[in-house]
Amino acid sequence: MIRLDKLTKRFGTNTVLNGIDLTIQDGERVVIIGPSGTGKSTLLRCINFLDRPDEGVIGIGDLSVDAARATKAQILGLRRRTAFVFQNYALFANKTARQNITEALITVQGRPRAEAEARADTILQETGLADKADSYPAALSGGQQQRVGIGRAMALDAELMLFDEPTSALDPEWVGEVLDLMRRVAERQQTMLIVTHEMQFAREIADRVIFMDGGRIVEQGPPAQIFENAQDPRTQAFLRRVKQ
Ligand SMILES: Nc1ncnc2c1ncn2[C@@H]1O[C@H](COP(=O)(O)OP(=O)(O)OP(=O)(O)O)[C@@H](O)[C@H]1O
Ligand SMILES: [Mg+2]
Repeated sequence: MIRLDKLTKRFGTNTVLNGIDLTIQDGERVVIIGPSGTGKSTLLRCINFLDRPDEGVIGIGDLSVDAARATKAQILGLRRRTAFVFQNYALFANKTARQNITEALITVQGRPRAEAEARADTILQETGLADKADSYPAALSGGQQQRVGIGRAMALDAELMLFDEPTSALDPEWVGEVLDLMRRVAERQQTMLIVTHEMQFAREIADRVIFMDGGRIVEQGPPAQIFENAQDPRTQAFLRRVKQ
C-alpha cells in the first residue's frame, strides 16, 4: 500500500503541493489529470525525492518517511520501491537498450551482471524489443525509446510505477504501442500512478481518476464518475476543454 499524508512542496513562495492525502492499494491503477502547472509532475517527483518535499509523510509498504527529516537511507529506500517513466524517456544516449535496462539493476540493486543481463533480455522480449537489444537510443524510434524506458522501470520490480505523461513527447504514430505496453504492465497487477492527457486511455485503464488543481486533489472517483458525472466546476471546466 502507498500512503501520502499531507504532502507539501514549495518552490520559494509558490506552494505547488498543498497537503496531498492519498492512499493507493496494492495493484491499484490511479490516473491523475489536471491543468498545466497544477503540480502533477511535482507530486510524482516528490514520492521518490526527485524533488524534495517540504512536509508530509510518504509510506510505501513497510517504509514510512517523514519528508522534513528524511535520511539518505530512507530516500534510497523510497527510490528502491519506485520506478519512474519519464516524458522524455531519459535514456542514457551512450548505452544500448540492454545496457539502459541493466544499469540500475547493477548499480542500484547490486545484482550480478549476468543476472541483470538475463533479466534485461527477458524484459526486451516482453517489450517486443529483443532485436533492438544492442541498439543505441539514437537508432530507435520515439516509441521504441519509450518502450525501453518502460522496460527499464519494469525490470526493477518496484512496488510502485510512476508514469509522467509517457506518451506526450511522442509522434502520434508511436502512442499506440506505448499505451499497449502500459496495458500489459497493468495486467501484471502492478501498482501504477499515471499522469496522462490521454483521456480515453485513462478511462480504460484506471481504477480511480484524480483531478488535481492548484496543488490539491479537487475530486476523485472511478473513471465513469469523473468523466460523466464530475461534481466540481473546476473538473467540469477542465474536461470540457480537453474534450474539444
Ligand atoms: N524546479 C522548479 N523550480 C521552481 N518552480 C517549479 C519547479 N518545478 C516546477 N515548478 C513550478 O511548480 C508548479 C507545478 O509544476 P508541475 O510541473 O508539477 O505541473 P504539472 O501539473 O506537471 O504541469 P504540466 O501539465 O504542464 O506538466 C508550476 O507552477 C511550476 O512552474
Ligand atoms: Mg507535468
